[in-house]
Parts: sequence; C-alpha cells; structure tokens
Amino acid sequence: MNSTAAEPELAEPYLREWLSTVGLDVEYVRAEGNTLYFLDDGREVPVLDYAGGYGSLIFGHNNPEIVAHAKALLDGGSPVHAQFSRHPYANQVATALNRIIHRELGTDEPYSVIFGNSGAEANEAAIKHAELDRVLRIQQLGEELAAHVEQVRAAVADGTARVSGRALAAAGAEAGEDPLEALLAGVARHNAERLARPPLFLALEGSFHGKLVGSVQLTHNAGYRAPFGALAAQARFVPIGRPEELKRIIEEERAELLDLVVTDGAVEVVPRAFPVFCAFLLEPIQGEGGINVITAEFGQAIQQACAEIDLPIVIDEIQSGMGRTGAFLASSLIGLRGDYYTLAKSLGGGIAKTSVMLVRRSRYRREFELVHSSTFAKDHFSCHIALKVLEMLEADDGRAYRTAGELGEKLTAMLEAVRADFPDVVKEIRGKGLMLGLEFHDQSEGSDEGIRETARAGFLGYAVAGYLLREHRVRTFPTASAANTLRFEPSTLISDAEICQLGSALRGVCSVLRLQDGKRLGGA
Ligand code: F0G
Repeated sequence: MNSTAAEPELAEPYLREWLSTVGLDVEYVRAEGNTLYFLDDGREVPVLDYAGGYGSLIFGHNNPEIVAHAKALLDGGSPVHAQFSRHPYANQVATALNRIIHRELGTDEPYSVIFGNSGAEANEAAIKHAELDRVLRIQQLGEELAAHVEQVRAAVADGTARVSGRALAAAGAEAGEDPLEALLAGVARHNAERLARPPLFLALEGSFHGKLVGSVQLTHNAGYRAPFGALAAQARFVPIGRPEELKRIIEEERAELLDLVVTDGAVEVVPRAFPVFCAFLLEPIQGEGGINVITAEFGQAIQQACAEIDLPIVIDEIQSGMGRTGAFLASSLIGLRGDYYTLAKSLGGGIAKTSVMLVRRSRYRREFELVHSSTFAKDHFSCHIALKVLEMLEADDGRAYRTAGELGEKLTAMLEAVRADFPDVVKEIRGKGLMLGLEFHDQSEGSDEGIRETARAGFLGYAVAGYLLREHRVRTFPTASAANTLRFEPSTLISDAEICQLGSALRGVCSVLRLQDGKRLGGA
C-alpha cells in the first residue's frame, strides 16, 4: 500500500518530527556502494554515505557479490527456519572466525560461538554467559565452604580442634555458650550478606554496548541508561586512560567470603575472594561515544587488573571489528586479548541481521547452550552471508584489511588538512582505519544566536549533518553521545573522488561555523 500525505505518522512519530527539523527526514529509495538515492521530482539524487549503516557496510550497500550470493541462497530455497537441527554452516562460521582470530591473537585456544541477531543481543549473550560462569563459580565456592564447615564441626566434636577468640573476632561473632555455633552463625551472616549482592560490571566512560535491558546498563550515556536502572545489573564506569581509577573501583567493591580451616588444633577463619564483578566490557575504539581510541598502555593496564582478580574481559568489536580498522579485530592492534568477543554489523554483509558472541574455551560453560537461544539466530541464510563476508575479508591474503588501513590513512590526511585550515573550528581528528571522527570546538559561546542555542541544546552535530546533506549531498552523523563529533565509516570501496567530496563539504561547513552563519547552517 502506498503511503499518502494524509496518513498519520505512527512509526516513532516524535523521532520523525525531530529529523525533519534538522532536514534529515529523507526517504532513501535505493543504495549502492557508498551512495544512497532519494527521489526529487521523480529523479534520483545521489547522496554520498559516510554513515555506512553505523559501521555495518564494510563492503558497501548492496555489494554485488554478497547480493548475488543472497539471491542464490533464496533461489535455492535456503531453509531460514530449521531450529534445533544440525547447523554445519554455523560451525563453518565459527571455524572461519577462529582461524582469523587465532592468526591475529597468536593463540590456538578455541573460542566457542553463540549466535544472535543484533549487536545488543550479542552483548547480552556475553553478559548472561559471564553471569552463569560467575554463579557456577560461586556455587562451587559455596560447596567448598560448606564442606569445610562440616570438617570443622567434626574436629570440634571429637576434640581435635577448638574455636579461638581470634576466629570469633574475625567472623564478627561474640563468644556465647557455644563458641562453635557462635562462630558458624557469624560466618554464615557475613557470607549471606556478600552472596546477596547483585553482580557488578565494569565498563568505560563513553561506552555504548546497546540499548536492551541488560546492555543499556553498560552504556554510559545516562539519558539512555538511568530510567531503566532498576531492571538490570549495574556497572561502574572507568574513565578512559585512568588505570588508577580502575584500581580504586576494584578496591572499593572487593568482597570476601569467610572460609573455615583447622590448623594446629585451632579453627581459623580464612578470607576467600568473592567474585563481585561479572565482566569488564569495552570497545577498543568507542563508536557512539565519540570515536575514542583506547591506547595499548591503557589496554595493558586493564588486562593486568582483570587478570589479578580473574575477571573476564568482553571486547565489543561490534563497530570496530570486521576489518574496519585495518585488522579483523581493532583490539588486536593494541595487543589486547579478550575472554569474549562480540561482533555484528558488517558480519551481515549489509543485508543480513546477525551477530556472534565468542567465548574462549577455558571460560566456556556448555550449560549456556540450554539456557540461551533465539528463534531467528544461527539461520542458514545469515550464516551463509556471514561466511561470504569472512571469505571476502580474507581473500587475496587479507587485501580488504590493507585497503581499509590505506584508505583510512588517506581519509585521515584529508581530515587533518581540514583541521589545519580551520583550527578555530575543528578541535581534533580521532580514530583508526575507516572508523574516524572529527570533533568541532564547542560552539555554545558562539556569536550567532542560532548556532549558540543549537550547540547548547546538544544538537550541533545534527545541524551540521543536516547542512552537509542539504548543501553537499553528504550523509554523516554525529556520534549520538558526543554530539560535537562527526563520524565517518565508509566502505572499502571509497574512492579518491569521494574523499575529496567529503573534504569540500567539510570545508563548507567549517566556513559557515567560522563566519557564524547560523541561517546557512540551519538546525533545531
Ligand atoms: N556495541 C557497539 C560498539 C555498537 O556500536 C552498537 C551499536 C551496539 C553494541 C548495539 O548494536 O544496535 O545492533 O543492537 N551502535 C550504533 C551506533 C547504534 O550508533 O553506533 P545494535
């Protein structure tokens, strides 16, 4: 059915209205390579797309090789729904992922793979798996402690051990008529309090791990997160580049259970580390939070701090992975090793919606497979598309990775040249490969009222995006949680001419900001 102007807007009506105020409510009717097309008087108007599906299009829109593969799958009657059967193609995806990851990480430890449908879902699978692992470890610890209590009871009963005042003090217990019962009650009270604590996560300030119930609590932006705080486990957020803060938070939250042992005829209280934290989630290059790159030094500090408390690291490569930064995993470029990895976006080749969560074998809990599933995950169609994408990335000895790296250098050089010409407007260029950001100086004290107000409302980047689309037919967005930063995530097909076009467009908007021409910029 065709929509008519008289039809009420029911699909996210407020978002639609807001998009129209900045001129971004364009309907695209066709997409190819780095170009999206809209219709103007029946004629197609091309728009150069640097948003790249928020990083979902490493090989561009409707890549012919991927589309041909998809057509062949559909023509061949690909069984999209064949749940609870053999999925050799899913295993092929897992094998291909392992081969690539082993090469990049220099390890041969296998990673088990759980499939999902979106980025947030992959992170939620990681969150759930890490919690299952924590719960099972706590269960085991609880069983050990219970066995020790029985041993202590027996030793006291047969007179080979006695309860000392020191043990009672360590358990916060008062010596009553029966010192053993007093000690056991003290220990039980202490342990019950620790065991009742909900799990805690660690994440970085500026992080974005999704907007579902669990993952949104690990997303730093309070606007997304705060209203839903009561629905899921919480995170402590560590400022980027501040390992001492990470140490302080770990120290602040640490907890111990009390264990009992008999030594030299005395019952002693021994503290045992209690796993307060469930996992540390991080993006090696933050996308939505402003294209913030984690350094190798900070990565190492995190790795070390987590190893010290046996805390698994979940590396969210949903945006930075799949070759975008010149390697399959951006984290491999800084020598960071994850216990878990999550991938989505470009894994679906720009046409399928699929995601994966990988867990290294030494952490893997096979019980997870019985408690986590999705109707749509691991289907024949999206697995075969993912396989095709992985094959294309790996072709010609990894030409796609090299291309992403080289094009990223060209794009960075162009952005740096713009910054050099407009140092009063452009604050910084950040990122790696084809995941780049350009931050504008704050305009909230600008001389033009329109620009000032737009900046104060946090919409500068959106007004700039509207201007770039309207005046230069270039599509890019600010990183939503850092609205002064534009991000550029084109495909590996980006040409010199397309890089030039972005350069001219950016120079255009920089002039508008330098001249404080609010009318020309437009905006909210
Ligand atoms: N993790 C990262 C690093 C992401 O960039 C995103 C989405 C997600 C998880 C969630 O994935 O949307 O498939 O559920 N990032 C988009 C962005 C929305 O704006 O960068 P999803």
